[in-house]
Amino acid sequence: MSKPKAIVTRRWPEANEKRLREHFDVTFNESDTPFTADQLKDALKNCDVFMPTVTDKVTRDVLSVEGRTANMIANFGVGFNHIDIEAAKELGITVSNTPSVLTDCTADIAMSLLLMVARRVGEGERELRAENWTGWRPTHLLGTKVTGKKLGVIGFGRIGQAVAQRAKFGFNMDILYWDPYDIPSDVVSKFEATKLDTIEDICRESDFVSVNCPATKETFHLMNKERFELMKPSAFVINTARGDIIDEKALVDALVNKEIAGAGLDVFETEPNLPTELKTLENVVSFPHLGSATIETRIAMGDTAINNALAYFDGKDLPNKVV
Ligand code: DGY
Repeated sequence: MSKPKAIVTRRWPEANEKRLREHFDVTFNESDTPFTADQLKDALKNCDVFMPTVTDKVTRDVLSVEGRTANMIANFGVGFNHIDIEAAKELGITVSNTPSVLTDCTADIAMSLLLMVARRVGEGERELRAENWTGWRPTHLLGTKVTGKKLGVIGFGRIGQAVAQRAKFGFNMDILYWDPYDIPSDVVSKFEATKLDTIEDICRESDFVSVNCPATKETFHLMNKERFELMKPSAFVINTARGDIIDEKALVDALVNKEIAGAGLDVFETEPNLPTELKTLENVVSFPHLGSATIETRIAMGDTAINNALAYFDGKDLPNKVV
């Protein structure tokens, strides 16, 4: 029996590519550069399963291409805001994602950003590399203590809870959260977490605000000028979710005007381009979307995407069906 045809838009870890070759008649994107809209359309006309990732803008226009043969999209990643899910549903295209396997590594990156920006680690390292360190002194690069502070988590799902786990049990932080959904009481009591009624309350109360909600129409620019104004001048914002949940212009203004103390960012509105200030301000730590970037996690993401595609062709329930 011939194998289903798969097109993969970016290079995956070697172990995943080997497994893909075993199960599919697979085409890789050797150049590993993002597909254009035309390349995406072409791909959808030339495979049975399409395997995109966050850098592919899989719009309604792309999905509606005439002659589409792919009816299954196995996304490499948990976030699927780059795929028009409504259009996929209408067109009868099945979409899967890769939740859970990247929870811990993304939470680790959130804590790295939190610690780096609070303790001015980036500044210190830059000073040392530039041979500008003149030695220890009592007033050198004084940062903000993390232990015992209040962490406000916006979006208390898998990743938000994993951040809380590290913050609560590693750094004895008080956990506040906001989530539109009810969180199981055993989870809330495990973290001795306090639910606040509004995002405004989170902004007012927290020493660190961690953005951990998905990117949707409702969460677009959720952190905006008004909400930054509510934050304490000593507080920090951390974003490991999606760039457009924060209004970057409002963030830059808040940072420049010292309305907040700093930001730790792993995601940006128009990656890989970001406002100059987010690359140069001393009170900002920016990472190039590293949340899930460990070999273990990326292999697990690839395996999860493959498992979903295999379930689809075996006529089984998909482990991680989006639509
Ligand atoms: C995810 O899985 O959503 C990561 O952000 C990479 O896309």
